[in-house]
Amino acid sequence: MAPLLHEARLVKSPAELALLRHAAEISARGHLRAMRASRPGLEEYQLQAELEHEFRWQGGSGPAYASIVGGGANACVLHYIVNRAPLKDGDLVLIDAGAEFELYAGDITRTFPVNGRFSDAQRALYTVVLDVQERAVAAVRPGTTLAAIHAEVVRGLTEGLIHLGLLEGEVQARIDDESYRRFYLHSTSHWLGLDVHDVGLYRRDGEPRPLVPGMVVTVEPGLYIPADDDIPEALRGIGIRIEDDVVVTDEGHEVLTASVPKSVEAIEALMAGK
Ligand code: GLY
Ligand code: MN
Ligand code: MN
Repeated sequence: MAPLLHEARLVKSPAELALLRHAAEISARGHLRAMRASRPGLEEYQLQAELEHEFRWQGGSGPAYASIVGGGANACVLHYIVNRAPLKDGDLVLIDAGAEFELYAGDITRTFPVNGRFSDAQRALYTVVLDVQERAVAAVRPGTTLAAIHAEVVRGLTEGLIHLGLLEGEVQARIDDESYRRFYLHSTSHWLGLDVHDVGLYRRDGEPRPLVPGMVVTVEPGLYIPADDDIPEALRGIGIRIEDDVVVTDEGHEVLTASVPKSVEAIEALMAGK
């Protein structure tokens, strides 16, 4: 019985898509509110409070999962939910949070400067993740697979890591020996629906399954740079992830979470109050 239900849940009906669109919109509003509220001296839980206030205010039942608000190196802790450290001037903050609406989940990650301005090193790393994330979102369409999208993400991030001097040598060699995994060790996507990690098989008969219209996926590459001695000082302890919720459509895809800015310019403008 469960496999049948899981297959039914994997491809969303128009009514389900409407609820997911609304969950995403409420989630987006929470992120916008937290971005606007951010400033050095606040505690991580105060941004969490801004987010979750907005989720409820907009009619959501609350967070769809434990909100992650990680300033500075806390962004490198993948399931950091303590949210109890001060937000420091010059640090980035990573927020991974989504609202639940009528049992459907939103799931958004944005990473932005606590003080509203990226440093050169932060911008360089951020731009690598953003370019890769935008290409991965653009690749969502019927017929492709999440495995293919992940492979392109790994290639793009590895190129960026070499360009930034965090890895050496040839791209393919660093993919083959998996040294990129020091900086990126989670997968790029999961199904989204009634559960934030929704049900449904990722592979059938051992093969990654092709996407079909009505599936809803997240696209969430990241880079997490350890604060180790061999890392250039300006990059130590920076964690960046960018996550959007994406519907597979007949023509390609629809991004449900586009209203939260993710370009450097748009984030800085929003935080400057423009
Ligand atoms: N917030 C959980 C995830 O992004 O998968
Ligand atoms: Mn996710
Ligand atoms: Mn997430």
